Amino acid sequence: MNIVVCVSGGGTNLQAIIDGIRNGKISNTKITGVICNNAGAYALTRAKEAGIDGICISPKDYSDRDEFNRAFLDKMKELNPDLIVLAGFLVTIPREMVETFRNRIINIHPSLIPSFCGVGYYGLKVHEAALARGVKVTGATVHFVDEGTDTGPIIAQKAVEVLPGDTPKILQQRVMEQAEWIILPQAIDMIASGQITVTDGIVQK
Ligand code: GAR
Repeated sequence: MNIVVCVSGGGTNLQAIIDGIRNGKISNTKITGVICNNAGAYALTRAKEAGIDGICISPKDYSDRDEFNRAFLDKMKELNPDLIVLAGFLVTIPREMVETFRNRIINIHPSLIPSFCGVGYYGLKVHEAALARGVKVTGATVHFVDEGTDTGPIIAQKAVEVLPGDTPKILQQRVMEQAEWIILPQAIDMIASGQITVTDGIVQK
């Protein structure tokens, strides 16, 4: 299975995928491209170090959103991946891309959906909201991407404890270590080995 990984920032989830392919936790999978919306992102350095083509497509380089969406979709069609992995990608996926790659786009979100998700919940903001609400358990979710924000069929979730004294950054790191870097490679491996189907919006394993 060929995958394209879309990133915006540090790229630790991209690294978990690269490592998972190397150490055999993800089978039958090759990263054929990394797309980033931010030229300065460390994720692009990680791609380069792994010998993967890094492509920067930023909304800033286009006169309007439609033009960016078209360029993004054209690039994706050219790469023609079996699966698109959003690994900390903070750009909304164009509707046409969702339609073209139906149930072939997955996203990692740093909470237990349906908590702390949707428009405005990304990165550290998710953990700030979880701490502000006082939840004692949070976690991460891998899901297919549909037309909504964080509304698609859920593939995998893993719970993580919130501990006294947590800051958003401390909690973010724990959620990454104990959930994201584990369930994202697992989900990719399950898809690569044909273990997942979606029926009436529900993932069957
Ligand atoms: C991760 O925590 C990921 O779950 C989150 O951004 C971070 C990216 O880190 N994604 C979202 O919030 C999407 N709504 P990374 O660049 O080190 O993988």
